[in-house]
Amino acid sequence: MKIDILLGLQWGDEGKGKVVDVLTSKYDVIARFQGGPNAGHSLEFNGIRHVLHIIPSGIFHKEKMNIIGNGVVIDPIIFEEEIDALIAMGLNPTENLQISKKAHLIMPTHKLLDAAYEAKKGKSKIGSTLKGIGPTYTDKTARTGLRICDLESPNFEEKYQNLINQHKEILDQYHFDYSEVLPELDKKWKAALSTVRKFKFIDSEYEIYDYLQEEKTILAEGAQGTLLDLEFGAYPFVTSSNTIAAGAFTGLGLDPHYAGKVIGIVKAYCTRVGSGPFPTELFDQTGEQLRAQGNEFGATTGRPRRCGWLDLVALKYALMINGVTDIALTKADVMDNFDSINICTAYKVNGELTSRMPTASDAVIEPVYTTLPGWKEDISKCKTYDELPQVFKDYIAFIEKETNTKVSIVSVGPDRDATIFRD
Ligand code: GDP
Ligand code: IMO
Ligand code: MG
Repeated sequence: MKIDILLGLQWGDEGKGKVVDVLTSKYDVIARFQGGPNAGHSLEFNGIRHVLHIIPSGIFHKEKMNIIGNGVVIDPIIFEEEIDALIAMGLNPTENLQISKKAHLIMPTHKLLDAAYEAKKGKSKIGSTLKGIGPTYTDKTARTGLRICDLESPNFEEKYQNLINQHKEILDQYHFDYSEVLPELDKKWKAALSTVRKFKFIDSEYEIYDYLQEEKTILAEGAQGTLLDLEFGAYPFVTSSNTIAAGAFTGLGLDPHYAGKVIGIVKAYCTRVGSGPFPTELFDQTGEQLRAQGNEFGATTGRPRRCGWLDLVALKYALMINGVTDIALTKADVMDNFDSINICTAYKVNGELTSRMPTASDAVIEPVYTTLPGWKEDISKCKTYDELPQVFKDYIAFIEKETNTKVSIVSVGPDRDATIFRD
């Protein structure tokens, strides 16, 4: 029995939530392996859009188990809001959601530290979602963090208060005034713990191993995207976790021998929120059109997303690092009315042509484009691959030839039903 891994191959928001929801029917268990409420995973069915931040995107399938892995960081306040929304829909998430005892908790002061650090950076800010992600993972690596299992400790209150005091000292150094916001946040945070405590805390590594012995199928769900990975993104304009396939092994405690398919989600164009390099970014009318037609506004922060053409240099890098076996292509329908479509096939860095990603985040990159014709047809109603226009199939064939990877899934709209499987 194998564990398949699903993850984003660009800068996040590729449509992971939608594809996980669609694929959930094929699996017994959906397990989120990293990130936290910086993620916003949207999915749609019966005409209603749902956005998940911490909870795996398989939660709407009542008979499927969902796991929040040890690699995830949890803000109890946001978790409670998500759970309340699910309960209001008539779901009973305590029955099909479990949390790793080793997952770290985002504390109220982590969020304030995020704000203080970003404010200090001024123009060179990362554009963080300000959900406390960086400071929480910092405490994790500094070995000072608070974990879900600490909620069961008699010393929890003391551990919590000690860490809050340490954070206050740092906030003081940054002249960050927390006197008004912290008491309220602290109260809300503690109250939200009662919701967290309703869930079963597990050792996800044992649990997943047991599932595998029972021949159960598991889908590991990633957050963010490969180009935001702590190691391989354009550092420092990255998030603080490993968003790549390797992150699934550490974020869930998997035996690599069980790795099955790696499904890479690719948006037909690129978007990015926050700062950092974006070689194919468009500042013109076409960029505006992608933003408007693609509804490219952050699912977590509402910020307008930067938009640009598909970048095959970056995509090939992501395919290589993740060992992607299958591409799920999303949002090509957004370009239905485009006369022509550009795809970046190489970079010029300092006048030299290259197919490699530069490491320096300040490298001046000039994208080299191949122009393909637009298909100029509404593909959003197509139900089978055969129904798709030939020009669009040629566009897919071009991507497959360039990347040497099969496009196995084509998403043609936000709804569950707007999905074409090629096999
Ligand atoms: P995630 O973070 O990767 O889960 O992606 P987001 O949910 O942040 O952003 C993707 C957006 O595109 C959401 O609003 C989805 O509902 C929407 N979406 C997903 N797939 C498609 C698609 O194939 N076509 C269109 N038009 N929208 C899509
Ligand atoms: P999903 O899972 C897009 C970006 C932020 C910022 C950088 C660091 O929905 O694809 P952080 O809050 O982690 O300190 O922010 O990473 N970022 C995302 N961009 N989608 C996401 O998640 C993101 N999560 C973080 O905008 O540039
Ligand atoms: Mg998102």
